[in-house]
Amino acid sequence: MDSRAPLPDAKLAAPRGADRGEFVDFLPVPTADIDSVSPTVPFMPTLYHRVVDRATWEWREFRNPSRPSFVQEELDHALLHEVAWSPGERVLDVGCADGRYMSLLRDRGVCVRGVDRSASAVARARAGGHEALVASGDNLPFDRGTFDTVLCHRTLYLFTDPQAVISEFHRVLVEGGRVVFSGSNCASPYARVQAQALANSAGENWAIGNRWSIGEWCRAFAVRGFRVGDIYSCNLVWPLVYRVCDQWLIPNEWMRRYNRFVRRVTRTPIRGARPLGAAMDYVAEVIKKPAAHDRNAITS
Ligand SMILES: C[S@@+](CC[C@H](N)C(=O)[O-])C[C@H]1O[C@@H](n2cnc3c(N)ncnc32)[C@H](O)[C@@H]1O
Repeated sequence: MDSRAPLPDAKLAAPRGADRGEFVDFLPVPTADIDSVSPTVPFMPTLYHRVVDRATWEWREFRNPSRPSFVQEELDHALLHEVAWSPGERVLDVGCADGRYMSLLRDRGVCVRGVDRSASAVARARAGGHEALVASGDNLPFDRGTFDTVLCHRTLYLFTDPQAVISEFHRVLVEGGRVVFSGSNCASPYARVQAQALANSAGENWAIGNRWSIGEWCRAFAVRGFRVGDIYSCNLVWPLVYRVCDQWLIPNEWMRRYNRFVRRVTRTPIRGARPLGAAMDYVAEVIKKPAAHDRNAITS
């Protein structure tokens, strides 16, 4: 293939381990890029691509250490592969930003709409073909019972009034609908560094609004008419302080392997009924109880 020729549509290689149902590297390798790296050396391009890919990845993590990729991967795995999503399911992504997760869910046949407080983020989501509105999670512009699922990924900690948010989620969900949300272990070094970074650069959409743990969120949802379902404890690595002076000391790949090693040795499944204290991040599902069965149902 002529390396200067325009690339064909990128086909995505199947993630490693996907067919065995185990945890997979979430970033698939575009095979078109691999093919185009060097037309003369048939076996080297894959290796070359991987080395360059890994080097740029580590460099990016080094320069922007608040988003370690190994953390992101297992969280994405829980959210997109462990949590069940059905084609046609009506999902509201609260804090949708530029629509990254809306795109990933749309690929699964989910009917997803988004809201975000940031007008520029919503404009980017719309540019990606998504139905998104500028709105706050504590005042949603939708009728009662509009959605089967509310997704709130990496956003709950920004809300200053968690009770108002829970009421709104309850209102816009159908009976039996669910909230899928994620949160960090507030005691982990990662969450502390993040909180400090946010406190230093408190912007319009990024000031920390609450420091509720995943347990506190689950209890608050339970009090307001939800049943707590599965909890996915991700990244069993927080007892290892892996950063010093806000710089990466341990490469992502080692952390990724360490995480898998801990999981294998301790035989700890990702899914459970309770959040594990050793995890850095969680994804949780809470299900709206039918009003007849719920004396605490929100009637407003
Ligand atoms: C950390 S980002 C997460 C974005 C996306 N969910 C993800 O995981 O990539 C948090 C997003 O929440 C948005 N946000 C902050 N406060 C909000 C609010 N009260 N209502 C809706 N979105 C809000 C921010 O603008 C930002 O796009």
